[in-house]
Amino acid sequence: MILVVRDAVKIYELGSTKVPALRGVSLEIEKGAFTSIMGPSGSGKSTLMNIIGCLDRPTEGIVEIEGIDTTKMDRSQLAYLRNRKIGFIFQSFNLLPRASALDNVILPCLYSDQPKNDYKEKALGLLKLVGLESRVMHKPNELSGGQKQRVAIARALVNDPAIILADEPTGNVDSRSGLEIMALLQKLNDEGMTILMVTHDRYIAQHSKRIVFFGDGKIVNEEVVEKREYAAHEIEKRSTQEGEELL
Ligand SMILES: Nc1ncnc2c1ncn2[C@@H]1O[C@H](COP(=O)(O)OP(=O)(O)O)[C@@H](O)[C@H]1O
Ligand SMILES: [Mg+2]
Repeated sequence: MILVVRDAVKIYELGSTKVPALRGVSLEIEKGAFTSIMGPSGSGKSTLMNIIGCLDRPTEGIVEIEGIDTTKMDRSQLAYLRNRKIGFIFQSFNLLPRASALDNVILPCLYSDQPKNDYKEKALGLLKLVGLESRVMHKPNELSGGQKQRVAIARALVNDPAIILADEPTGNVDSRSGLEIMALLQKLNDEGMTILMVTHDRYIAQHSKRIVFFGDGKIVNEEVVEKREYAAHEIEKRSTQEGEELL
């Protein structure tokens, strides 16, 4: 298993009030999985992603990444594990505004033990993979939402993570860019990358292989995706239609 979550509880303490965000979540993700998490706002989806992504720790329960138990780690151990094993993609991109696309992708390498000379070449290769080879020196405000998210995907891949965590990756982009992001995630998954994604969009979730439904801090249901959507097919179909309309 790439990821095991067992009986995870998370209680936020705000002054004297306790906000239970996770009420006992268990989840297993195997290598090559592409799983979506759906559920209403406030049901704990991001809290779970943050705990799996080593950005936070559960109040109770266990999180194991490639067999490594993260629950007793201190902040610096968590940061190290996050850097080596987790590729995080956020709804709001989280790019450094004053850094170029290239420097944004290189950034995680500066905290890792990869040989320095390999950074740039690798980052350029990833920017090419996400279709941004002509935008490497652009800053985030010179890129569209979809392009920013593709920079974020390249950044997520630069340290060869064990798993990609994507929290509403298509939430802040138009539908065409959303499809391009899904086509990219599907391609990465076809090549063996394990992906866990949060979305509130059923159609986006249909691009994954399994959907886990969240409600009030718990998993309430799950299903295998029977009729998968393929973003690359849809993009091709739409381009053909647009072409026909122009004739
Ligand atoms: N840092 C925090 N401090 C206090 N409460 C929080 C914090 N983050 C989230 N919560 C609360 O935990 C619950 C789950 O939030 P969240 O995981 O963001 O839900 P979702 O991503 O499903 O919308 C909500 O009630 C939210 O208000
Ligand atoms: Mg959320």
